[in-house]
Amino acid sequence: MKGIKLFVVLMVLSLSVEVSRSQLSINFYAASCPNVYKVVRRESGGPSWRVPLGRRDGLVANQTGANSNLPSPFEPNHSIIAKFAAVGLNTTDVVALSGGHTIGLARCALFASRLFNFSATSSVDPTLDASMAADLVSLCSSSSDGNATAALDRNSTYAFDNHYFKNLLIQKGLLSSDQGLFSSDEGKAATKDLVVTYSNDNQAFFGDFACAMTKMGNISPLTGSAGEIRKNCRVVN
Ligand SMILES: *[C@@H]1O[C@H](CO)[C@@H](O)[C@H](O)[C@H]1NC(C)=O
Ligand SMILES: *[C@@H]1O[C@H](CO)[C@@H](O)[C@H](O)[C@H]1NC(C)=O
Ligand SMILES: *[C@@H]1O[C@H](CO)[C@@H](O)[C@H](O)[C@H]1NC(C)=O
Ligand SMILES: *[C@@H]1O[C@H](CO)[C@@H](O)[C@H](O)[C@H]1NC(C)=O
Ligand SMILES: *[C@@H]1O[C@H](CO)[C@@H](O)[C@H](O)[C@H]1NC(C)=O
Ligand SMILES: *[C@@H]1O[C@H](CO)[C@@H](O)[C@H](O)[C@H]1NC(C)=O
Repeated sequence: MKGIKLFVVLMVLSLSVEVSRSQLSINFYAASCPNVYKVVRRESGGPSWRVPLGRRDGLVANQTGANSNLPSPFEPNHSIIAKFAAVGLNTTDVVALSGGHTIGLARCALFASRLFNFSATSSVDPTLDASMAADLVSLCSSSSDGNATAALDRNSTYAFDNHYFKNLLIQKGLLSSDQGLFSSDEGKAATKDLVVTYSNDNQAFFGDFACAMTKMGNISPLTGSAGEIRKNCRVVN
């Protein structure tokens, strides 16, 4: 499978890049992470953008912090927008970065609440396409630990394109937070128009995605002696 191949290539590349130098220099990262990026682009397509180099990485991984600061697929739409706003990202960035779900998979545990006992009047989320819901009910019914996975973009799972947005127009978003961009009351007010724009205009999506990625890369960079420059981009020195 292409996805597995891509994953293996990424693992091999990122494991084989121990860099002997400990100081930043011109093209310091050329020996490591950018190779990963080139492979992702070659395998999946998608936009490109200039990445400011010389970032210092943190020394700790904070699971509590990640769980409270990163949006979850169960959150109401306004709460996701608020978390983005807290770090200087606006609703355009919310919609464009949600388009990252054009590739990848999600576990049943993250969307099963849309399939079983959704509400008093409907066992399945009415904003989920009926035939897709039937497929997912079948998949997740046989996954007692919620670990079975479904494609975030059923149309083109491993291609970086705007089908994610086309899916939302026909109620084929996988996560509640995906479909909510188009179907929820809040989404209708804040994000629906942009979903429609991206569904019609791949270049508009690519341009805004690249812009949002650049903005995200500029959130609270570590400066001075905080953090460190990694010899290997995957692990602390
Ligand atoms: C981890 O994140 C939590 C919640 O944001 C914060 O209270 C805590 O101080 C953080 N811990 C570290 C080691 O940064
Ligand atoms: C979000 O910010 C970008 C610039 O970073 C701007 O082009 C865009 O119009 C803004 N969107 C909204 C909804 O304010
Ligand atoms: C749905 O709710 C009913 C009644 O509360 C319960 O008996 C049943 O186990 C639930 N089904 C699922 C799949 O959670
Ligand atoms: C299912 O996923 C959970 C959480 O990631 C993990 O702890 C568990 O081992 C997984 N179960 C199987 C059978 O892989
Ligand atoms: C994906 O969508 C395109 C139209 O946008 C359609 O032609 C194609 O058949 C779809 N592919 C799948 C696998 O659904
Ligand atoms: C957010 O979106 C979800 C998914 O469509 C929807 O169920 C929920 O009602 C929305 N929340 C609000 C407050 O509009």
